[in-house]
Amino acid sequence: MQFVISPSRLASGELTVPGDKSVSHRALMFGSIAEGRTDVSGFLPGEDCLATLEAMRAMGVGIESVSDTEIRIDGVGLHGLSAPAEALDLGNSGTAMRLMAGLLAGQRFDSVLTGDASLSARPMGRIIRPLGEMGAVIGSVDGKPPLEIKGGGGLTAIDYAMPVASAQVKSAVLLAGLYANGATSVTEPAVTRNHTELMLAAMGAPIQLKDGRISVEDGCRLQGGPVAVPADLSSASFVILAALLSNDADLLIQNVGVNPTRTGVIDVLRAMGADIRLENERLLGHEPAADIRVRASELRGGPVDPALVSLAIDEFPVLFVAAAAAGGRTVFSGLAELRVKESDRIAAMAAGLKRLGVNVEETPDGAVIEGGRIAGGEVDSYGDHRVAMSLAVAGTVAEGPVTVRDVAAVDTSFPGFASLLDSLGVAVEVQQA
Ligand code: S3P
Repeated sequence: MQFVISPSRLASGELTVPGDKSVSHRALMFGSIAEGRTDVSGFLPGEDCLATLEAMRAMGVGIESVSDTEIRIDGVGLHGLSAPAEALDLGNSGTAMRLMAGLLAGQRFDSVLTGDASLSARPMGRIIRPLGEMGAVIGSVDGKPPLEIKGGGGLTAIDYAMPVASAQVKSAVLLAGLYANGATSVTEPAVTRNHTELMLAAMGAPIQLKDGRISVEDGCRLQGGPVAVPADLSSASFVILAALLSNDADLLIQNVGVNPTRTGVIDVLRAMGADIRLENERLLGHEPAADIRVRASELRGGPVDPALVSLAIDEFPVLFVAAAAAGGRTVFSGLAELRVKESDRIAAMAAGLKRLGVNVEETPDGAVIEGGRIAGGEVDSYGDHRVAMSLAVAGTVAEGPVTVRDVAAVDTSFPGFASLLDSLGVAVEVQQA
């Protein structure tokens, strides 16, 4: 499947985007090991979260899809999961695999986690090492999936200083900590998204944050309850950039998660001159949310603050497009983690933008992009949803049509992306290639 996007002007108006992927995964996993009922609203029915849903069902959890975005979970309690009959296939989802490895390391049964070709190439040593220190036994193929997790051994608490800033690693260790003997702590080299801490605390887990150290104790019980999932700021960022680049556009994106551990993309774009305002800021359950007003703006390049990297980790593909459309030079650094996402996102975006005539110099941990002019052309997504959607946004301001090949992965995080763009006035054709 491919998208063909022609230069377009966005209509002004109001819209929302699908639910937050990170919060949806966590609602499923934590609701499953909580006691009682968890009713999830605003759930993201993307392929990644549906893989987590099927995995939890395969371990005996009663999960009902009340509608596309409403899920009812009858939790089985911390020790109520049962052995899955087969390997759990987590598709494209790194979050599902890494968090589930932490959860399964503390179970009494064995389990196997597999994924698609992209997930099978992603590093799992970063969770195998700390979980191993806790006593977990996890087999892998040179640190890559499939993961074979031996149950029944019992875990011991650790105090872990993470070498990479990763919310997935932090979450895996904290989840294993629920099953370990004693208090498990994690410190991170830079602040990462804290959805795990917020949701576990809301469900009654004894989570503590002191001097940058996040701790959890064993022997607790989680209590299910309603979970309201805000719209995903990572998905909204594609629409935000398209609006910024479209003459006279004035869009209101409603009910978006604006947890400060996620809003780096807004800070980077504002530093480039973007007019982005948060309206109606509030708490949606335990997560901050707001309506985001975006007005078309002249963007200018500059150095991007590396301190914002972990707060905008998934938004750099779209920020590369912002840099390509901005006046002047933008320098990105500190992005080495992007090379081990669903694709090597530095290489994938550099290749795509170069094909669209943009002057991009790739560096080991970033890129230098000379902005100003984007030509039409054909580009590849490398099977990566965020690369595909970022290059589609480039097509809205290119000088001719842009064809983005291999876009099926968009459904992992943003089902309905093309029809949403279409409803905003973007000329997008979906072709079965
Ligand atoms: C996620 C954490 C991030 C992010 C991913 C979702 C999460 O990964 O890139 O899309 O839900 O915890 P890392 O923690 O590996 O940086």
